[in-house]
Amino acid sequence: MTSSNDFRPTTLVLGATGRHGRTGARIVEQLLAGGHNVRALARSTGEHTDALIAQGAEVVVGDLLDRRTLGEGVDGVDSVYFTYPIAEGVLAAAANLASVLRAGKLSPRFVVMSMGVSVPESPSALGRAQWAAEEVLSWAGLEPVVLRLRALFYENIQLLHGGSIRATGRFANSFGSGRAPWISGQDAADLAVAALLAPVRYPAGTISYPTGVEVLSHKEIAEVIAAEIGSPVEYTPVSRAAWQAELEAGSNGGVINPAMAQHISAIGEAFSVPREGVPVPESGSADVKALLGRAPLSFAEFVRVNRTAFARN
Ligand SMILES: NC(=O)c1ccc[n+]([C@@H]2O[C@H](COP(=O)([O-])OP(=O)(O)OC[C@H]3O[C@@H](n4cnc5c(N)ncnc54)[C@H](OP(=O)(O)O)[C@@H]3O)[C@@H](O)[C@H]2O)c1
Repeated sequence: MTSSNDFRPTTLVLGATGRHGRTGARIVEQLLAGGHNVRALARSTGEHTDALIAQGAEVVVGDLLDRRTLGEGVDGVDSVYFTYPIAEGVLAAAANLASVLRAGKLSPRFVVMSMGVSVPESPSALGRAQWAAEEVLSWAGLEPVVLRLRALFYENIQLLHGGSIRATGRFANSFGSGRAPWISGQDAADLAVAALLAPVRYPAGTISYPTGVEVLSHKEIAEVIAAEIGSPVEYTPVSRAAWQAELEAGSNGGVINPAMAQHISAIGEAFSVPREGVPVPESGSADVKALLGRAPLSFAEFVRVNRTAFARN
């Protein structure tokens, strides 16, 4: 463990080594830039954690699914950023962390990255599990500040469809012609930084529902990508079951997992035929801009920055 500056509050950041929305990584950068002490919890060490240490973060090794490994991570923390991947285990992760904090009589400011489908009747099993995890954090007396983002991350398009678009100029999923709200993981992270640092705007024990910054169908997404990479991109709607099976067949470096396949294909189906438990497509770019104090990233800008993820050359 590297030493921390004792005169500044310390934030424990979970998910700092993320490979999907990467909100934790962005939060580490932003907090360090603001002069805060950051402690990142990571399951393993290597180049990914060396990069965090080089930035000035303290790194401790721990696994949210193994309570025995969490004591050093929570020791003396003033605030916690909690995120968990789109994968099985969020309920156990939240329970373990809450238990260790309670045992240490710690009451840090606690900010949770969540999603609009975190509701008990969600068509997504992970949405229901996320909701139950947030219940546990509240029952533990942690008074979490929960950001249930009513938007999908742009990074989903890169993760779930980048390979297909690069290889064939085509992609398919279960969203059909449904329009959905979108935001970048980077801007979602910056909202969480605001929640960590602005207790008046984000009081302890409250749930907020930030909106996306753009509402787009997948046909419109294909058009934006095509314009940015300069070659045609075609979107085809397929059934929930077909997309789930396709996702289960490929793992994209282990990031796509069976629970994610169920989650996103069910959400896609729900957007194709709107139903209870799925965010209504609303664009709040003005709200997000006001919260961030700057213009949020547009989807076109996201594609431009990540062009190599979509273009053949
Ligand atoms: N994707 C969307 O469209 C969307 C939309 C709205 C809200 N959200 C919210 O965003 C959250 C995901 O955030 P994200 O995209 O920033 O995550 P992410 O990039 O997938 O990163 C997940 C992080 O969690 C770490 N992790 C996984 N299992 C762990 C364990 N057992 N113990 C400790 N760390 C562990 C991973 O570390 P390793 O490097 O060790 O794997 C990784 O650093 C979701 O839970 C959801 O609520 C997502």
